[in-house]
Amino acid sequence: MSAAQHPLSSPLKTLALAALTVMIALLALGGVRASLAAQPKDYAKVVGPKECAECHKVTTKAWQATHHFATFTEMPRSKEGLEIADRMGIKRVKTDSLCMDCHFTSQEKAGQVESVAGISCESCHAPAGDWLKRHSEYSGKKKGQETPQEIAKRWVDSEAGGMIRPHMTYKLAKNCYSCHITPNEKLVNEGKHSPGSPFELVSWSQGEVRHKLWYNDGKANLEATPERKRMLFVVGAMVELEESLRAVGHATVKADYAVTMAKRAQIAAKRMAAIAQAANTPETAAILDVVKGVKLNLNNGAALNAAADKIGASARKFSDGYDGSTLAAVDGMIPGSDKYKGKVYP
Ligand code: HEC
Ligand code: HEC
Ligand code: HEC
Ligand code: HEC
Repeated sequence: MSAAQHPLSSPLKTLALAALTVMIALLALGGVRASLAAQPKDYAKVVGPKECAECHKVTTKAWQATHHFATFTEMPRSKEGLEIADRMGIKRVKTDSLCMDCHFTSQEKAGQVESVAGISCESCHAPAGDWLKRHSEYSGKKKGQETPQEIAKRWVDSEAGGMIRPHMTYKLAKNCYSCHITPNEKLVNEGKHSPGSPFELVSWSQGEVRHKLWYNDGKANLEATPERKRMLFVVGAMVELEESLRAVGHATVKADYAVTMAKRAQIAAKRMAAIAQAANTPETAAILDVVKGVKLNLNNGAALNAAADKIGASARKFSDGYDGSTLAAVDGMIPGSDKYKGKVYP
């Protein structure tokens, strides 16, 4: 999505979006706020993808065929990368945290933080220092010999260690969005970095990123089930709205960044309204209620974050409370396989 494409260049424009009205009042008030993108990473707890490859061999091969893997060597050498870095006054992208947290996996070794890979296993499943052993050791027994209680405890312990597991749809989605929206005004306006990807969770997770290979011993890379796709679609749309509102909250000047993010938030609100119309739930209704009071103004970070927090709470509740079986009404809205991003491995 480039800002130039967006028609919203006039300062005051009101769009009626289904039941809700979102005001775009981009008042140029100026003022600079530093804003970093991705969530704080615990570099000392990162073990690196080689550790995972010990056991997850086929999954590692699938990852090695993705843009996430390739960006480690390609981005720092690309003309565009060097130009963005130059405009931001950055000498080495692999050691500058502004680029590092979104493009690489970094690890702390002997007090030094070093980038060791592109976007890798722990970028999505969380740094593994506190859960690596717990999740994989079958409670000290052989595979198949644990009691149901031991299995349950192993997963509780792994999650307590920070592991993000496949069933945690909200956390997984939040994690994708911590990189796929760029909530950094200066990086977009002055660095001319992309303001973020035209991201959608089903289409962006079922193509090259797909690696549902483990529980069938690598025999097939399974597509998400229809129920699972509904969950990815709806929770993804909720997080899109949550994170685009936060992104608007970082806008301080009426320029590319503010306009693109406001437009993004409007599209997300519209999609949410359509989803709620198809599958009305207490959570979708609560989210629409929050959106009604939202003003997409400049320098409105506190109010937009508060709205985003409420949307996030509903999204998490939705993620924990549904399994997709009651959501067939959204099937017509879910992108089909022709929209999947990149080539499915192998
Ligand atoms: C010593 C072998 C081993 C290593 C090393 C290992 N895993 Fe696993 N992993 C397993 C086993 C075994 C399971 C399945 C456990 C089961 O069936 O209950 C698993 C399951 C998983 C799952 C699925 C969890 C779920 O909810 O079903 C994820 C995600 C995962 N591992 C990620 C990783 C990541 C990321 C790394 C590296 C940081 C890693 N693993 C390293 C053995 C390993
Ligand atoms: C908030 C996370 C985030 C930050 C911070 C960030 N990037 Fe990116 N970058 C992305 C994403 C996501 C894409 C893919 C965008 C798309 O889909 O259009 C991307 C794309 C790029 C591209 C084009 C594709 C490629 O990999 O060659 C370059 C070049 C790039 N970024 C360089 C940088 C540099 C240099 C920095 C630091 C000054 C940086 N990025 C900081 C998330 C980020
Ligand atoms: C871009 C984010 C991302 C990266 C990188 C990533 N994963 Fe995953 N992983 C996911 C998501 C999302 C799922 C859940 C997919 C679903 O169930 O719909 C998942 C599922 C899994 C599963 C369960 C698969 C099954 O058969 O059900 C395992 C095991 C796993 N990942 C291990 C890894 C390992 C090992 C790596 C690194 C080689 C890795 N992942 C890299 C996001 C990621
Ligand atoms: C740590 C940051 C980070 C996380 C987390 C992350 N991504 Fe990405 N992703 C990127 C960057 C940066 C690129 C661009 C790489 C490039 O093109 O060089 C990218 C590229 C992609 C691409 C390829 C896009 C293309 O243009 O072909 C897909 C698909 C993708 N990501 C999906 C996902 C999904 C799905 C998740 C969550 C399950 C996720 N990503 C999580 C940073 C991230």
